Amino acid sequence: MAEKKPDNNIVLENVHLNLNTSAGRINILRGISLKIKSGESVAVIGPSGGGKTTLIMAIAGLEKISSGSLRVAGVETSELGEDDLAMLRRKNFGIVFQDFHLIPTMTALENVAIPLELAGASSDVAFSVSRNQLKSVGLGHRFDHYPSQLSGGEQQRVAIARAYASKPGILLADEPTGNLDGETGMKIMDLLFELHKDNETTMVLISHDNELADRCGRTITLADGKIKE
Ligand SMILES: Nc1ncnc2c1ncn2[C@@H]1O[C@H](COP(=O)(O)OP(=O)(O)OP(=O)(O)O)[C@@H](O)[C@H]1O
Ligand SMILES: [Mg+2]
Repeated sequence: MAEKKPDNNIVLENVHLNLNTSAGRINILRGISLKIKSGESVAVIGPSGGGKTTLIMAIAGLEKISSGSLRVAGVETSELGEDDLAMLRRKNFGIVFQDFHLIPTMTALENVAIPLELAGASSDVAFSVSRNQLKSVGLGHRFDHYPSQLSGGEQQRVAIARAYASKPGILLADEPTGNLDGETGMKIMDLLFELHKDNETTMVLISHDNELADRCGRTITLADGKIKE
C-alpha cells in the first residue's frame, strides 16, 4: 500500500532565543535560519557555549524561542501549549541527552516502556516492543537492572533504545558518545546510524568529534548563537 511520506522536516526562520538572568538579558540564539529535510542527518558542531544544546532543546520544544518561526513536522511549535508540545514530543521525537536522563527508580525495561505507554500504547505492546528494542542494542540480559547498576555505555544504549522505541520521525542527540570510551562510543555511533538508515529518521547530532560529523550528510557550525558558513 502506498503510504504518504511523513513530513519530518525541521524549519527555522530567524529564530532568536533570549534569557533574562540575574546578570541581565543574554541572547543565546541570534537569528538562526535552517532547513533540515526529512531523512537527513545533520551534525551540529562548534565551540562550547555556542548554543548547540539550546538549539536542540528549542527544536524539541523544551526551550521556548523568543521570536522567529520554528516548524517541526508541519506544525508551528512556538504556538503550541505545553500539553500539545509534550504529545508532539512523544509521537515525533526521540531525544538522546548527553547525560542519559534515565529515571533512576525504574529498570532499564521500564525506562523504555513507560514513555510508550504515556504515548498511548497498551502495557503489553509497550513492554514487548521495549524488550525487542533493548535486545537490538545488546541489552537483552539487562532488562531488570536499574540505571545505577549499568555501565555508562549501557545507560547510553538504554537511552537510545528509549529514543527509538516509538519509531520517531526525528532523532535529536546531544553528544551521545561524549561520556563513553572510544570503542563503546564507536559502537553507539554505528547503532545510531543503523537505526537512522532503517527508520529514515531525520537525525540532528551534536558532536565534538570530527569523525562523527563526517558520517552525517551535512555539518552546521554554531558559534556565538549564529550559524557560521
Ligand atoms: N538557563 C541558562 N541561563 C543562563 N545562561 C544559559 C542558560 N542556558 C544556556 N546558557 C548559556 O547559553 C550559551 C549556550 O549554551 P549551550 O548549552 O547551548 O552551549 P553548547 O554549544 O551546547 O555548549 P557545550 O559544547 O559546552 O555543550 C552558554 O553561554 C550558556 O552559558
Ligand atoms: Mg551542549
